[in-house]
Amino acid sequence: MAESDVARVARWVREADVVTALTGAGISTESGIPDFRGPAGVWTKDPAAARLFDFDAYVADPQVRVAVWQRRLEHAAWTARPNAGHRALVDLERSGRLLDIVTQNIDGLHQAAGSDPDRVLEVHGSLHTVVCLSCGRRTPMADTLARLEAGEEDPTCLTCGGILKSGTISFGQPLDPAVWRASVRAAAACDVLLVVGSSLQVHPVASLCEVAKDAGARLVILNAESTPYDRLADAVLAGPIGQVLPALVGSAATTRS
Ligand code: APR
Repeated sequence: MAESDVARVARWVREADVVTALTGAGISTESGIPDFRGPAGVWTKDPAAARLFDFDAYVADPQVRVAVWQRRLEHAAWTARPNAGHRALVDLERSGRLLDIVTQNIDGLHQAAGSDPDRVLEVHGSLHTVVCLSCGRRTPMADTLARLEAGEEDPTCLTCGGILKSGTISFGQPLDPAVWRASVRAAAACDVLLVVGSSLQVHPVASLCEVAKDAGARLVILNAESTPYDRLADAVLAGPIGQVLPALVGSAATTRS
């Protein structure tokens, strides 16, 4: 019987010394956090919402900040729990094969699932901290949520009065150089780059697919919809991630030669 795609990828993972995972919003939808560009995505349903993710608009327009803070207050991440997809990557880490998870997600669910925080590279930052855009002071998001719940609409820095923003990277904002360098290293050092739940439409993160391929890795894309990198991939697996990823990792782990 012909080897299934999942079995073939499981063999690659089993034979790999090092696997790097690149995750996107698609791994968190089964935890109740909508993605951006999928059929039920935040931007699919409300294209204008993309403006709330533009750094210059956030800095320039108090009304954008008020709208963003309202969304932060109601974010699904506060009640979301990790799902089987997150847990499968924890299993992969515990099998000794996973180098790092480069995640575009800001929800912290990889760490909540048990992934080693030192191996989770949050290239688009995190929802769990707040940064002052003037003095750089970082504080827990919970502190600012409490101020919002007490009625503040556009809280400012308690130290310098500057504009506060969640520790996420908006369009127009630079990535953290150290996190980006570590992400490139992780893509270049792996035998398999396992892309999970990303439409691979945002750069520079999507270019990690080329970094991995140029370094001789196999590129595997697990996603419900097609991506611009499918033609570059050695294997493309259709979702749902919560079923396919555990099957893939389970098959790779049970038969390590
Ligand atoms: N199983 C498989 N695939 C899924 C599932 C699922 N359960 N749920 C969603 N997907 C797929 C969608 O089909 C979509 O192609 O996950 C992909 C998510 O793509 P995006 O919504 O574009 O999310 P992402 O690639 O992470 O976006 C990158 O862009 O929005 C900005 O900064 C934000 O980090 C984000 C970046």
